[in-house]
Amino acid sequence: MKTLGIVLSSVAVASVAAQDPAQFVNAFIGTSNGGHVFSGATLPWGSVKAGADSLSGDNQAGYVSDGSPITGISQLHDDGTGGGASLGNFPFLPLTTAQCANNDLTKCTVDNTARALAHGTPTASPGYFSIPINNGVQAEVTVTQHAAIHRFTYPNGTDQLLFLLDATRDLSGSYQGGQVTVSPNPTTNGTRVTGSGTFSPSFGEGSYQVHFCFDAPTTFAQAKYYVNSGSLHYTNLNATQTFNKVQNNNDPAGVLMGFTPGSAPTLTVRMGISWTSTAKACTYGEEEIPTITSAAFDTVQTAARATWNQVLGTVEVDNTGVSADTQELFWSSLYRAYISPTNITGDNPLWVSTEPYYDSFYCIWYVCFSYLISPSPRCTGDSFRVVHPLYAITAPTTQAEVIRALIDIYRNTGWLPDCRMSLDKGLTQGGSNADNLLSDSFVKGITAGIDWETGYEAMVNDATIEGDFSVQGRGGIASRAKLGFVPVNDTADNPPNEGPNTRSASRLLEYAYNDFGIGLVAQGLGKTSDMTHYFAKSGDWFNLWNPNATNTGFSGFIQPRTANGSWYFDPRFDLNDIFRPDHCSPVFGHEDCFLNPSGGEFYEASSWEYSWFVPQDMAKLVTAVGGPATFSSRLDTFFAAGFHDIGDEPGFFPTYLYNYVGQPTKTVDRVDAILNKNYNTSFNGLPGNDDSGAMGAYVVWSHFGFFPVAGQNTYLLNRPYFPKITIRNEATGAVATIIAQGLSDTNIYIQSATLNGASYTKNWISHDLFTSGGTLELVMGSSNSSTWGTGEADLPPSLSTGGFAT
Ligand SMILES: *[C@@H]1O[C@H](CO)[C@@H](O)[C@H](O)[C@H]1NC(C)=O
Ligand SMILES: *[C@@H]1O[C@H](CO)[C@@H](O)[C@H](O)[C@H]1NC(C)=O
Ligand SMILES: *[C@@H]1O[C@H](CO)[C@@H](O)[C@H](O)[C@H]1NC(C)=O
Ligand SMILES: *[C@@H]1O[C@H](CO)[C@@H](O)[C@H](O)[C@H]1NC(C)=O
Ligand SMILES: *[C@@H]1O[C@H](CO)[C@@H](O)[C@H](O)[C@H]1NC(C)=O
Ligand SMILES: *[C@@H]1O[C@H](CO)[C@@H](O)[C@H](O)[C@H]1NC(C)=O
Ligand SMILES: *[C@@H]1O[C@H](CO)[C@@H](O)[C@H](O)[C@H]1NC(C)=O
Ligand SMILES: *[C@@H]1O[C@H](CO)[C@@H](O)[C@H](O)[C@H]1NC(C)=O
Ligand SMILES: *[C@@H]1O[C@H](CO)[C@@H](O)[C@H](O)[C@H]1NC(C)=O
Repeated sequence: MKTLGIVLSSVAVASVAAQDPAQFVNAFIGTSNGGHVFSGATLPWGSVKAGADSLSGDNQAGYVSDGSPITGISQLHDDGTGGGASLGNFPFLPLTTAQCANNDLTKCTVDNTARALAHGTPTASPGYFSIPINNGVQAEVTVTQHAAIHRFTYPNGTDQLLFLLDATRDLSGSYQGGQVTVSPNPTTNGTRVTGSGTFSPSFGEGSYQVHFCFDAPTTFAQAKYYVNSGSLHYTNLNATQTFNKVQNNNDPAGVLMGFTPGSAPTLTVRMGISWTSTAKACTYGEEEIPTITSAAFDTVQTAARATWNQVLGTVEVDNTGVSADTQELFWSSLYRAYISPTNITGDNPLWVSTEPYYDSFYCIWYVCFSYLISPSPRCTGDSFRVVHPLYAITAPTTQAEVIRALIDIYRNTGWLPDCRMSLDKGLTQGGSNADNLLSDSFVKGITAGIDWETGYEAMVNDATIEGDFSVQGRGGIASRAKLGFVPVNDTADNPPNEGPNTRSASRLLEYAYNDFGIGLVAQGLGKTSDMTHYFAKSGDWFNLWNPNATNTGFSGFIQPRTANGSWYFDPRFDLNDIFRPDHCSPVFGHEDCFLNPSGGEFYEASSWEYSWFVPQDMAKLVTAVGGPATFSSRLDTFFAAGFHDIGDEPGFFPTYLYNYVGQPTKTVDRVDAILNKNYNTSFNGLPGNDDSGAMGAYVVWSHFGFFPVAGQNTYLLNRPYFPKITIRNEATGAVATIIAQGLSDTNIYIQSATLNGASYTKNWISHDLFTSGGTLELVMGSSNSSTWGTGEADLPPSLSTGGFAT
């Protein structure tokens, strides 16, 4: 488990932490071993995410802590994603005579692979990234919302500061065409380069266009435009001309510049980025970073850190007795939960709207690619389970904007997205999980500016209109209405067999839970008959429950069915018609569990794991598996036998399920063990892709001492890792305080509790604590309390036992 460790600090340190939590953030956790964490400079939900790009197969987020050389420092990234390498547009690379003999720009190495340079150890802090490149240049970058300022410090004695701006390269080499213009900055006479490029999204349909505006404060001493169309060609550029070039596909091209050093060998440049136009990119740069000097760099860096501290600062912890390592893990995890999605409100070129716009919902479910299995499955996304519920308590203003953006996407595209990035539709993996993202905020009273009637309409649209479920909505709606489940090879899909025609069992489970979310919103909006309808439909999971399926001594599993009602046995795995609920688990293997035509009936996790996914009615599941004792020992076996996969988000919820049978101490032990084994502050400290902060958010919740059942008003208690935690609701000002009296390395079990002074024995809490404020005070002890949280009345709500009643 995470030891509380040596007492390092006093109350004075706790207050430093409160003011400057950024000091505890280690941006490099998860930058190797497939974590795909973005370690560069960004603001919370920043549009611009600037950082180094490694020449590595694992460079989905740019920089990888694997020692590979870097090809540049680019302006846009995603965090923690699987799929293809994402963004990485418009990289810069500072060059010296080692790369450009005699300062001759036609001698510079420009090719993306050949130009890669070794480097020393980078450093980073929220809003700032720095890397010593082995050509002697120290590269630094810091950001505002839509612009970056880069500072390159060349070796002393450098007589010309050489610099490459690559106009065509992104991380995956997806450039399809664009334009570059070099002309003097009209107001300063400095160097200005503007440009646009069309690229492909890393996990979606279509293409996207993005625009830049580069400004250097002075005119260049020399410059050349280069393009490689078979061989390298150069065009001379001078300081006063306007030069315009349209690029073709796959022609590595850009601008090489040499600047005369001033009093120090430092080159400071600005880069504005817009999804709308180059003019807007220039305006963003000019407005957000008015001066381009080394001193301005420091000012921007200070402001970025202050913004981070403000956003991180809705949470305060008392770190008395808490190890430095635990603090680093906690704050770094919270930090990463705020990197994506990106707020590009006001910069959405797709439609005219006054509503907020957020991009990089990557994804609301998660995605994995089968061809990227080695060494472990590469998955991404999954923000509905842990990230957006976190915003509901720590960043509700942002969450309200996210909800408005999702509803506006529905208004303008006809559908809520399940996955969306770089202005394009992303691929759907499971259900229509924006439904639960919406229901989560709805039941938590997030209303600011939200048109919930339209939100509800969007959810009902998911449930009732057959979409092209490879990118939006659901499939199998007609069959499910008839049969109560989605059959294998659903021929009633419209068009039939659309998308990779798989995942019938896992989709049904998610559709059932999506319907439950619709029911909750219907309930809140007073649509009682809709509520009854959707609550009833949420029971469809039971239609795939085969009580006769048996494995490892346990009976009853979710099993696919064919349209005639028979249980389905996949001839590839279920040999001799013996259903294998362990297929797609870490022990059986992940083949055919992904988004491809041979994908099976469970997506990305086994029937063993999916057979826990009934958050709307765990009480019925407890009965179905044979009662509380069997449920508990079945969980024990699930973890012990290796069927559980913490590297994939469906594995989060099961770690808290002992609460549903009144054994919260077993949840404490389980979560402690999971954190201890799988999460740490090393480069490789994540068990899977960070998935837009999802892994981070799991760590944050587990350290708070409670975990959200996404989509409903339930938080399952484990135990806090800090003696005191306060969470301030920035929207209402209400402060929730969680006190763990007597917490120590051994006193980790809740013995008794009070909520606002009154005795509290439930092993779950509701959102009231965060809307109204209040204090949850837990008395911790070393022994397994046989009374607290164990009674029938202490269990979290379930539909069949009268939970969620109006
Ligand atoms: C470069 O020169 C400056 C000013 O003399 C000095 O402070 C700095 O340490 C030198 N840097 C290196 C890397 O030698
Ligand atoms: C820019 O250059 C023009 C032409 O040389 C000159 O008239 C103008 O004053 C310059 N502007 C600035 C801000 O230096
Ligand atoms: C710069 O380039 C333009 C266009 O090619 C040309 O007309 C102009 O004379 C050049 N100026 C200098 C100073 O070389
Ligand atoms: C999102 O961006 C808009 C436009 O820049 C801004 O008004 C809004 O405050 C931003 N939201 C957050 C949560 O920062
Ligand atoms: C589903 O369709 C595939 C491809 O057409 C076929 O190979 C398979 O036998 C079908 N399975 C069932 C259960 O109909
Ligand atoms: C389970 O097996 C029993 C005995 O063979 C049979 O009667 C029952 O219908 C089966 N249940 C299901 C749901 O297949
Ligand atoms: C049901 O359909 C499956 C797949 O098409 C077939 O193998 C099976 O024999 C059918 N069962 C009955 C009872 O018709
Ligand atoms: C806690 O106590 C209960 C009842 O005494 C027992 O069944 C359970 O196994 C204990 N759990 C742990 C983690 O010690
Ligand atoms: C850190 O976490 C990673 C990912 O779960 C794991 O592989 C590694 O063994 C852990 N390292 C330590 C020192 O516990």
